[in-house]
Amino acid sequence: MLYVANWKMNPPSLNDAKRLLKNIRTGINTGVKDKKTQIIICPPAIFLTKLGRPSSLIKFGIQNIGSKERGAFTGEISVLMAADANVEYCLVNHSERKLYFNETTRDANQKIKLCLEKRITPIFCIGESQKQFKKGKTKPALENQLKQGLKDIGIMNIKKVILAYEPLWAISSQKGAKAENPDQILGINILIRKILFGLYDQKIARETKILYGGSVAPKNAALYVKNKSIDGFLIGSASLNSFSFLNIIKNCQKN
Ligand code: PGA
Repeated sequence: MLYVANWKMNPPSLNDAKRLLKNIRTGINTGVKDKKTQIIICPPAIFLTKLGRPSSLIKFGIQNIGSKERGAFTGEISVLMAADANVEYCLVNHSERKLYFNETTRDANQKIKLCLEKRITPIFCIGESQKQFKKGKTKPALENQLKQGLKDIGIMNIKKVILAYEPLWAISSQKGAKAENPDQILGINILIRKILFGLYDQKIARETKILYGGSVAPKNAALYVKNKSIDGFLIGSASLNSFSFLNIIKNCQKN
């Protein structure tokens, strides 16, 4: 199981970030070690090179990269810089990037390609809006995002992409967010695998890692893993508290 901590624009200082990571490391060493567990911490980029080296259990991811490799793009961080900072994973197409920074799935396609060229694993976020969900448009919404985001990426590379299904209204930063019903998530996981089968083949449909994200917390995480088709979680607010983050892992390991 993969547990991806998306710290977003938190915590406010390097010291706080170091403390949070230290508490997570200590907790893992004293209880949640397990061969099947992989933790990926995505801190704010400015802290990335200051949080120590990755270990077999804890790797680092970046929350975003620019859609161009280099050049005059004020404020952007390039894939080359991410690779130089020992980053192994990169979040792409997160709904907050789309909502607040007008990023498109076409941008995501560029970023996924850049990541794959530099051997960084893209974690490609997909998800439908509440309106699309209510209108029964989840399948076309997800299918479009997968088609656009993975356009012109050869089948050998598709295997390297991790998907994160995050229904938009379930993300805690969204107004009125609520955790999604685990049974519905199972259904949508199966739906995503069906879409992948239609676009690629059975092997891709079966083997692609699909994470779930959206208000994941110690009290609900184990309910999602019961259905076995979820390969891990993308965790926002609960990952900012080492106790909650570790309890999510512990509760899932019990199942
Ligand atoms: P959340 O965030 O766990 O706070 O809902 C998840 C995400 O935005 O990736």
